[in-house]
Amino acid sequence: MTDTIKIDAMTRDQAVAELARLADILARANAAYHTEDAPDISDAEYDRLKRRNAEIEAHFPDLKRGDSPSEQVGAPVADGFSKVTHAVAMLSLSNAFDDADVSEFDGRIRKYLGLGSDVALSYTAEPKIDGLSLSLRYEDGVLMQAATRGDGAVGENVTANARTIDDIPGTLEGAPAILEVRGEVYMSHPDFEALNDRQAAAGQKTFANPRNAAAGSLRQLDANITRARPLRFFAYAWGALSDPLANTQMGAIERLNTLGFQTNPLTRLCNGPEEMIRHYRLIEQERATLGYDIDGVVYKVNDLGLQSRLGFRSTTPRWAVAHKFPAELAWTRLEAIDIQVGRTGALSPVARLTPVTVGGVVVSNATLHNEDYIAGRDNKGEQIRDGKDIRVGDWVQVYRAGDVIPKVADVDLSKRPKDAEPYVMPNRCPECNSEAVREPGDAVRRCTGGLICPAQAVEKLKHFVSRTAFDIDGLGAKQVEQFHGDKWITEPADIFTLRDRYGAGLQQLKNREGWGEKSAANLFDAIDERRNIGLGRMIFALGIRHVGEAAANLLATHYGTWDAFSTAMRGAEEGNEAWEDLLSIDGVGAVMAGSLATTFNQEAEIASIDRLVAHLNIEEAARPNTSGSPVAGKTVVFTGTLEKMTRAEAKARAEALGAKVSGSVSAKTDLLVAGPGAGSKAKKAADLGIETIDEDGWLDLIGSI
Ligand code: IVH
Repeated sequence: MTDTIKIDAMTRDQAVAELARLADILARANAAYHTEDAPDISDAEYDRLKRRNAEIEAHFPDLKRGDSPSEQVGAPVADGFSKVTHAVAMLSLSNAFDDADVSEFDGRIRKYLGLGSDVALSYTAEPKIDGLSLSLRYEDGVLMQAATRGDGAVGENVTANARTIDDIPGTLEGAPAILEVRGEVYMSHPDFEALNDRQAAAGQKTFANPRNAAAGSLRQLDANITRARPLRFFAYAWGALSDPLANTQMGAIERLNTLGFQTNPLTRLCNGPEEMIRHYRLIEQERATLGYDIDGVVYKVNDLGLQSRLGFRSTTPRWAVAHKFPAELAWTRLEAIDIQVGRTGALSPVARLTPVTVGGVVVSNATLHNEDYIAGRDNKGEQIRDGKDIRVGDWVQVYRAGDVIPKVADVDLSKRPKDAEPYVMPNRCPECNSEAVREPGDAVRRCTGGLICPAQAVEKLKHFVSRTAFDIDGLGAKQVEQFHGDKWITEPADIFTLRDRYGAGLQQLKNREGWGEKSAANLFDAIDERRNIGLGRMIFALGIRHVGEAAANLLATHYGTWDAFSTAMRGAEEGNEAWEDLLSIDGVGAVMAGSLATTFNQEAEIASIDRLVAHLNIEEAARPNTSGSPVAGKTVVFTGTLEKMTRAEAKARAEALGAKVSGSVSAKTDLLVAGPGAGSKAKKAADLGIETIDEDGWLDLIGSI
């Protein structure tokens, strides 16, 4: 027993083990004392262990744990979790919904890699666990940090909580010096039910489903509460690594299992789409008896060499896909149709339903998309639902797939009340009474009130402060609505003058209903913290139509700085150089470009954006790490046949190395990579004196990276 070893005589390994043991006993004792009200060791013993812990830490200061008992006074950190920037981004997965999508996934990969259908390609298939992802960082085999996914780039530090989970080893033997293990935290069905029973008995809130229960439990500020919640963990991926785990996905999963992690027992190696779909059906059959929630099957290219060639799109890997289970369905009554006005002025019909449980969640609202959808037509004018329209009073079928907003899918005409009337979309904005018009080619009717429409303004503000945009702690949708209602905040720039206007003087935030000294000070601080903002978040936060999170990040990487971006947008006009440059970004089409150019050509919009920018320090976009890249910043053109990789792969690789890939040779071209059959481009490059190399030359050039 390590307790008997004298501290002076301890080796480092013994100290690591003893600190882990003490952290565990003391945390358990805390949990027993604080949350279960049943101390399990005497006060004297508690104090003795705490002293011993402090003495070991004094001897080995560098071994002090992130969750050291010396730092814990039994009370949680008051101000939330600290942030962790992931060394390797935590991405999400693209989806497949049917068998054809799975074959297409295989087809896309073969095309990208240039593999014929005769070449064998194997994939792993495993359940997609419906929990929340977690990244565990081990250094020299010791768990140093656990972080939630957050927005993929920055998550929350939940180390103390993760240490309470039995499936997460505190130390590993024989692991690479740096190892980030990624997987899913989840709660089993029996544990979920028992937790809800306990919560109900204690008069506390119950959880809608195991996923919410797992998330709520992991994100407890007091790790002692997490400890009392039975969470589990499946490992299925990795982030930063000092040495490879294996050559294949399957090998890596087996290695993680050997290191002490739970890996899913339904993980199989499949040779092609047919076997993948067969395994999907098997998992689907077993779904109800697994004892935990899953929402699909994840397929991953088995060969890790091919995975690295395939690489990533902006937010998802090319080498994996999630084959989702069909959505869950339920029937209920449509009580009313309300109109919500979005930040771009879109009038969206929302179904108010008699509450109904769909896949474990109570649903009382669902989207009806737009007026055509209600009328039984798609956006091309073709019939949907056999042309059946939807009316207030109807019995409607609601469906929910994963986290997405529930939808009204079908209607039962046999139950339609006799007096039900076809729905007529309003032609005035219900919020500002401006005319609501539907432009040709637009499926949506939009309020023409622009900045005068309070609903548009408030929705823009909600978007601005949302989690993937400015993410200001203490300033959520509810607060934005209140501040907007009182005209304290009418546009984003006003957020950043809130302290000047309401931090002192006659009218103060701390005196407002629902606010106090501390919460007001916290909000001002949280706002100040966001005066430094990444370029991608900034662009996304503006809420420009068609510019989602992924697109905003692409724009940020392309332009690098706010000045470069905004100057280009102000100058972009269909056909000119700035416009063509914008369109050269893979992922930006004419519709998005048009929307950007329109926004940056409206005086009132620009003035509002400029007022905002004056309060900010917009950080340069993190460019791909191209240090040492011989092609960073160069414009490269590929022509002729490439034999060792496809065009798509060559382009993606070059871009990852910081090059700009162009389709045509001009005076701006720095390098032409010409395969056999190169024609006019090679000639033009020669005429312009542009360096030209062949495919092997290109591989030699970039191969050292
Ligand atoms: S692989 C690079 N495998 O699904 C992507 N993800 O929709 C690595 N998830 O954020 C993810 N089970 O939280 C992978 N067996 C599994 C999974 C899984 C659940 C979650 C994960 C991810 C989300 C994407």
